[in-house]
Amino acid sequence: MPDQPAPSVAPDAPEHDHRPVFDLVAEGDLGLDDHEAIAAMLGLAFSEYDHWYAGARSWAGMQPELRVLGRVGDVVVAHAGLRRQFVTVGETDLLVTAVGMVAVSPILQGTGQGGELLRRVDEGLARLGSRFGLLETGEGVQGFYRRAGWRPLHGVTGHFTAFSADGAGVLVSQDEGWLVREVGSDLAEWPAGDLRWNGQMV
Ligand SMILES: CC(C)(COP(=O)(O)OP(=O)(O)OC[C@H]1O[C@@H](n2cnc3c(N)ncnc32)[C@H](O)[C@@H]1OP(=O)(O)O)[C@@H](O)C(=O)NCCC(=O)NCCS
Repeated sequence: MPDQPAPSVAPDAPEHDHRPVFDLVAEGDLGLDDHEAIAAMLGLAFSEYDHWYAGARSWAGMQPELRVLGRVGDVVVAHAGLRRQFVTVGETDLLVTAVGMVAVSPILQGTGQGGELLRRVDEGLARLGSRFGLLETGEGVQGFYRRAGWRPLHGVTGHFTAFSADGAGVLVSQDEGWLVREVGSDLAEWPAGDLRWNGQMV
């Protein structure tokens, strides 16, 4: 058998390493290309809502203040948005970090990138310094978050303004799907009562 020509680049050379590189990026440090790359990925991951993520519009509700980005070269393949805001819980105004637009590019889903993404979200939560991360999700994805330490709020109705990317921002109420991440805190400290965002979620 004739000798095979040696490959010009070793398979383990950096050029062949397509594992995402994760970073925390402040919103003010994103350029137009970044917004376009984020929007392109979110449009693929949330395909029913791809009209929200047109062009460089890389958010659907409240614009984040911090992003977790997983990138392969210039391509965004994993993303989460974080923003501190006060919400009202019962009679208490509570500073939380809202987390949203959590997604992995469809081609990489199921390969562990989502787990890595949530570990980086934890870093972002620690950096922003509020005592609770807060998000809302459908029943089908709750297990993904619960594996990573997020805890459900039972018996809580949340009221928020619908994403105005669709037009009028009307009030929506939801009884299920509220999850909290303790950040040096304890869920037992979470006040009793309904949750009022008084605005859009991230
Ligand atoms: C949800 C999503 C981010 C998960 O990312 P992913 O890369 O597929 O997740 P991973 O492969 O890293 O899985 C991490 C762990 O969560 C589990 N998991 C993943 N998706 C899950 C789901 N829908 N329900 C329950 N568990 C899930 C995995 O089994 C894995 O568990 P393990 O660590 O015990 O093996 C991804 O599927 C996605 O982008 N979906 C579309 C957008 C979306 O729905 N985002 C959430 C909006 S709230």
